[in-house]
Amino acid sequence: MYIVKQKVNGKDYFYIRKSVREGEKVHSTLVCYGGKTREDAERKLNELNSEKENNKNEFLEKGTEEKKQITIEELANFCKSKGFVYPSSAIYGGLAGFWDFGPLGVELFNNLKQDWWNFFVKQRENMVGIEASIISHPKTWKASGHITNFNVNDYLVVCKNCKKSSKIDKPDLEKIKCPNCSGEFDWANAKIVEQMFKTKVGSEQTEVYLRGETAQGMFLDFKQIMQTSRMPLPFGIAQIGRCFRNEIAPRDFLFRSREFHIGELEFFLNPEEKECDLLSKEHLNLKLKFLSAEAQEKGEKSKKTTIGKMLKEKRIGEWHAYWLAEQIMWFNSIGLSEIKIREHTKSELSHYSSATFDIDYEYGFGSMEIAGNADRGQYDLTQHQKASSQSLEIFDEKTNSKILPKVIEPSFGIERIFLALITKAYSKNKKGETILKLPAKLSPVKAAIFPIVKKPEFEKIARKVFEDLKKEINVTYDSSGSVGRRYARNDEIGTPFCITIDGDSLKNDDVTIRNRDDTRQIRVKISDLKETLKKLIENEILFEKAGKLIK
Ligand code: GAP
Repeated sequence: MYIVKQKVNGKDYFYIRKSVREGEKVHSTLVCYGGKTREDAERKLNELNSEKENNKNEFLEKGTEEKKQITIEELANFCKSKGFVYPSSAIYGGLAGFWDFGPLGVELFNNLKQDWWNFFVKQRENMVGIEASIISHPKTWKASGHITNFNVNDYLVVCKNCKKSSKIDKPDLEKIKCPNCSGEFDWANAKIVEQMFKTKVGSEQTEVYLRGETAQGMFLDFKQIMQTSRMPLPFGIAQIGRCFRNEIAPRDFLFRSREFHIGELEFFLNPEEKECDLLSKEHLNLKLKFLSAEAQEKGEKSKKTTIGKMLKEKRIGEWHAYWLAEQIMWFNSIGLSEIKIREHTKSELSHYSSATFDIDYEYGFGSMEIAGNADRGQYDLTQHQKASSQSLEIFDEKTNSKILPKVIEPSFGIERIFLALITKAYSKNKKGETILKLPAKLSPVKAAIFPIVKKPEFEKIARKVFEDLKKEINVTYDSSGSVGRRYARNDEIGTPFCITIDGDSLKNDDVTIRNRDDTRQIRVKISDLKETLKKLIENEILFEKAGKLIK
């Protein structure tokens, strides 16, 4: 830990900071406010050092709180063993930061993307979706500021004392000490590690980039989309797609990888339009845990608030608040309510943003960013207008004037949400067997169909039920092993319902449906099965109301 002086409005303030190693990378983080004089700060630092000795646990690094349910390594092993996610090109030893979705993983990932798309695109009249190319004209990334800002943020630097190399962010240049020995870094020889992947196109081998964010495709197409879709302002463009970042230290399984998916929407509005007519009571009363920029500067914890209170305190504009609330509501709808909103401090803001909020998720292994919400203002359209010499102004019918819209951008790391879903769902029953309690609508397999024993009379009906259901629902047929073993196999991969054809089915044309999360069973007529199952998957009916409960 060390002391740094900061000038605010001409006055000196002292802060205690520390160098923190996350994976291979080192960065500086605020410990607390130290006082208005160096002496105050030194006293505080001494207190902290002695407290640290007495109680090491109080100074656990971010992400190591003792709330462990499943560690990131256990999660990666589980995902590999069940066919959710494998390391890419494993037969050659793998490639750091690249992963493959296996048969179950791709189903869960597709269901997740589909649910996002339904919520943010299909259910809205003011939103359209696109799928832009991964490679675009190289001028895109110059104009967007990625080449001069984002691309050159990561540095490799060696300690003059212990000679260990560390990876640090540009804002920490010349500010931090070696976390290994507190020695000085050799700043003069710090090396940049570029974040954007380069490749070459065509016979002329023109140098181009793999996109670092999906957003730019939506800015480039904005005017044509507005014209072809005849969308009046305010309106949004949404996209889910692969992004590429040459992360200096890929780590924590899918959490920080070099190829991943962002789902994001760019919402365009008249910069003068301050009021959001879509804000409802539900938005205003939405409760959230909030960590403001000032609280972080003072080393304070997050506080409970509501979207309405944030608006009253003028922390956020109405449209920004509306989209933040919508993001939280979607997370709640997929069962991820353990979230906290963290305001970016001035020094953290991206080159394009005037205000950003991170949405952090409380993973069992720590609280980490899962999504973000930035006010990008007119930055991107202005930049592309200048660089392309094409006007991106549009005619706003409401105000009868030509304007360059501003943009609010909710964005989501889809792999990080995938990880949150599995972490939250992962549980054990009394026998120590794994049960993956995924929301039914997202589960890779919705139901497994079993003949109670492998005999033609049961198999004939079970096959018929399977053939009929599989046309519309992702179901599997499973006839090997005891029924108990088959339940356990399906619980482990998150199949919410198991359907058994037994002796009574032969007489009554019905089946049992077993509920994964509490093992209760109901009997349902085969003729009603498909519709009942659909309602159960969409959580439109209580399990005990969906059929005759077996006591
Ligand atoms: N257009 C805005 C943008 O790209 P970002 O915060 O850089 O913002 C969006 O990325 C989201 O993508 C983050 O909130 C995070 O969830 C996810 N993300 C960022 N870098 C990642 C990485 N290396 N691996 C996996 N997910 C990542």
